[in-house]
Amino acid sequence: MRTKVAIIGAGPAGLFLAHLLARAGIDAVVLERRTRDYVEGRVRAGVLEQGTVALMAELGLDARLRAEGLVHTGTNLAYDGEVFRVDMAALTGGSAVTVYGQQEVMRDLFDAAEPRGVRIVFEAEDVRPEDFGGSSPSVSYVAGGVAQRLSCDFIAACDGFHGVGRAAMPADVLKVYERVYPFGWLGILADVPPVNHELIYANHERGFALASMRSESRSRYYVQVGLDERIDDWPDDRFWDEIATRLGPEAAAGLVRGPSFEKSIAPLRSFVAEPMRVGRLFLAGDAAHIVPPTGAKGMNLAVSDVAMLADALRRHYGDRDDSGLDGYSARALARVWKAERFSWWFTGLTHRFPDMDPFARRMQVAELAYIRGSQAAQTVIAENYVGLPLT
Ligand code: APR
Ligand code: PHB
Repeated sequence: MRTKVAIIGAGPAGLFLAHLLARAGIDAVVLERRTRDYVEGRVRAGVLEQGTVALMAELGLDARLRAEGLVHTGTNLAYDGEVFRVDMAALTGGSAVTVYGQQEVMRDLFDAAEPRGVRIVFEAEDVRPEDFGGSSPSVSYVAGGVAQRLSCDFIAACDGFHGVGRAAMPADVLKVYERVYPFGWLGILADVPPVNHELIYANHERGFALASMRSESRSRYYVQVGLDERIDDWPDDRFWDEIATRLGPEAAAGLVRGPSFEKSIAPLRSFVAEPMRVGRLFLAGDAAHIVPPTGAKGMNLAVSDVAMLADALRRHYGDRDDSGLDGYSARALARVWKAERFSWWFTGLTHRFPDMDPFARRMQVAELAYIRGSQAAQTVIAENYVGLPLT
C-alpha cells in the first residue's frame, strides 16, 4: 500500500491530523494499535482552548460541541477557605474555554472519518517506522496476522508517550527533559450536578483538589494523592469527605455526592523530547511531550502541533515550499515550552509537595493572595489558560 502521509496512532493528534490532511486533499492512512472503542473509551481531560474549538469549527465538526459544550469565561482558585474568580474573558479581550470531554471530541472525529475518506487501520500490530532517514520511508505492520508495508513520503508519529515513533529516533539526536512529580491525581466521574458552574482549582494544606465537570449533570473531581495510594483505599465516602475538606466550606457549599462510576489514579509528569523531527519522521502530541494535567493543556497541545504540521505539509504539496517542514520542530517546541512552563508553574502553585516546609507553604499562600489582588497576575493565568496563539 502507498500513501503520502503515514500516521501512527488514532488519538487526538493522529485523528486531527488525518482530518486536516483529508480536507487539504493530501492522502493519508492512520495505523492504530487498538480498537475504536478502546481509544474512544479512555477517560481524559475535557477543557478545550479557543484554538481547539476554532479548529473543530473549521473542520465542520462542531455541531455537537456547540450544542453540548459548556463555555466558561472564568475559572476559580480556592485557598485557605476562600475562593476567587479569574475572569478570563474580561482579561483576554473575550477569550474563553469550552468544557467538552476528550471522549466526545474523539467520537466526533471517528464518526466523521469514513464519510470524509479518512482511512484508519485499527488493531495494527507491530507498527515500525522504517527508512525515514532517506527519501523513501515506510511503515511496516501486521494486520489480521498478515505482514504489511505502507510506503509513504512522510511519517507522523502521533502514538503517545509510549509509542514507537520517538523510540525509533536515534538516541544521539534526541534530547529529553523531564520532571516526575511525587504525587498523582485520583479522579472520579459521578452523575451528580457540578458543585459550581465553572472549575475550581483548590490549594489546601492536605493537598490539591479540582472540581470539574462533563455536563450539567456529570461531575469530574480530582484529589492529589501519594504515589503509593491504591484505588481500594478510596471508597466513595472517603473521596467525598476529602474533596469537601480541600475545596473548603465556601467552595464546597452545595456539593452533591453520589456513586462514582469511574475512579482512577494518574501520575503527573512534565516531559519534552527535542527535536520533534528527524528526517521524514515527525512527532506530534504526547509522543513528543507530556504536561501535568493542572493547566488542562495535554489535548490542546496535540492539536496545536498537528495544526502546524498540517500547514507545513500543505505548503510542501501545494506550493513546493519546505520551509514549514524544516521549521516545524522549532515552531512547535516554542509553543510547547510555554505550555510546559505554565503547567509546571500552576502545579507548583496548587499542590502539596512532600518536602514542603512551613516557609514553602507560606510562599504558596502569599502568591495566591497576590494573584487574588492583582489584575496583572490574573491576566498571566487567563491568557495561558485560554491558550497562547500558534505564532
Ligand atoms: N502502533 C500504533 N498505534 C499506537 C502505538 C503503536 N505502536 N502506540 C500507541 N499507539 C496509539 C495509542 O493506542 C493511542 O490511540 O497512539 C494513540 C496515541 O494517543 P494519545 O496517547 O491520546 O496521544 P495524543 O494523540 O498525542 O493525544 C494527547 O490526548 O490522550 C490524551 O493525555 C493525552 O491529553 C493528551 C492528548
Ligand atoms: C477535567 O475535567 O478532567 C480536567 C479539567 C481541568 C484540568 C484537568 C482535568 O486542569
